[in-house]
Amino acid sequence: MKRNAKKLVSLMLVLLMTFTLSVTAFAVSEVSRVSVTINGSSDTARGFCWYTEDESGTSLQVAPVGEDLTAATIIEGNSYEAMDKYAHKAEVDGLTPGTKYAYRVGDSESGTWSDIGYFTTSDSEEDAASFIVISDVQASNEENFQMAAAVMEKAVAQLPDHEFVVNLGDFVNDCTNEEWDSYFRNFAFSNMNTTLIPVAGNHEGNLQWFKFNNMFNIGAAENSATITGCYYSFDWGDAHFAVLNSNDMYPMSTAQINWLKNDMNASDAQWKIILMHRAVYSAGKNINKPDTLIMRDMLLPVIDELGIDIVFAGHDHMYFRTETVKNDAVVETETVTEVWNGKETTFAVNPAGATHILPSTTGTKRYSVNEDAMSPILDCAAIARDTKEGGVFATVELDDEHFVYNAYIVDDETKETTLIDSYAIKKTEREAPVEDYDVLPTDHFLTLPQNVINFVKEIIWVLFTYITKVLPGMIF
Ligand SMILES: [Fe+2]
Repeated sequence: MKRNAKKLVSLMLVLLMTFTLSVTAFAVSEVSRVSVTINGSSDTARGFCWYTEDESGTSLQVAPVGEDLTAATIIEGNSYEAMDKYAHKAEVDGLTPGTKYAYRVGDSESGTWSDIGYFTTSDSEEDAASFIVISDVQASNEENFQMAAAVMEKAVAQLPDHEFVVNLGDFVNDCTNEEWDSYFRNFAFSNMNTTLIPVAGNHEGNLQWFKFNNMFNIGAAENSATITGCYYSFDWGDAHFAVLNSNDMYPMSTAQINWLKNDMNASDAQWKIILMHRAVYSAGKNINKPDTLIMRDMLLPVIDELGIDIVFAGHDHMYFRTETVKNDAVVETETVTEVWNGKETTFAVNPAGATHILPSTTGTKRYSVNEDAMSPILDCAAIARDTKEGGVFATVELDDEHFVYNAYIVDDETKETTLIDSYAIKKTEREAPVEDYDVLPTDHFLTLPQNVINFVKEIIWVLFTYITKVLPGMIF
């Protein structure tokens, strides 16, 4: 009898263990939506974000390529409930500059891991950088995400050694789980193998509070609000990049503008580049809207004051590149044609202003050229065209003297890649660092009075602009 009881207890224990293990195994869900972003120094640190359907651990392993990734130290992060799923975030620091790393994310306890991904750290001792720029995927169904991903595949093929990918915002259309899943599933081949530079678009910012910051693990600038996106900066090669949040209040908050001034003035990089979503030079359907007009009025003087070389922006789903501009007017620039990287290239030499580039859309929602774009926008255009026949991507390669930009269209039908625009700059002299600049307050409370003044001023200005410039253009 005793023996039978023992047997029964053993059997029950085995059944209990089997049940517990199977429940645990069932509860551990697959890793999805993996991204690697700037979080600290681009030379030595990264932020990781991923999602699971159910609650699980948050573990990260990172190792230089060639070393055993499975033996790497397990870094534990944090997870929280977001969008009826679980968002996981972890960070790594102390990496070696200029090194290719392998990584995987998941739950170390259950041994559930993502596929192995890769990224490369920058090296601030080096001058060169190369990257891909895409914008406004903004798809709302699987087919359109697939079409945009096919454009991204061509971009990767065009610049296989790129070090990072800039996405100028509007990743998705309605910010639903289905859209984010589709975006990450179709773009995993790129996102898993690079550092992604996400820019907050209005489709994941305005009225979609916290969605952008729930999706990426970015080291936002001090005092940057994270409700509608965030702003941050980083260095790569001899370039300094400021990523703005153009969802951040109309007009753009004084805190963000002051941060941009402090951030750019503190940099001694040869190239100063802004990445933002709403374009201040474009000729799509959005350019005459009050939010964009106010942003033009607020930002153009700042871009001039800071000596910004390039502004990349999206939002208006058509292709636009300005000549060199300053004070909202074209500045004549000399050119020289030389062989660079084995290719004959025409360079603008030491341009005394900024070039604004809107590389249309990588997706399928494409706008016509708005001939009523507010003056003098079209007068400043080097090229303004629609891209109805395909999705667009752009590539940039730079060093301490050269900035070389190319834009390509991938035909929807033939899938052929065609160059649609090229632009290059040569700087013959080292840009002098800015000295004795005032460090401005970036605290939202301290800058509130200035925000109120700007708001009143800009509302009056935009009403005046509509009455005197926009409406007459629409009527006559
Ligand atoms: Fe947009």
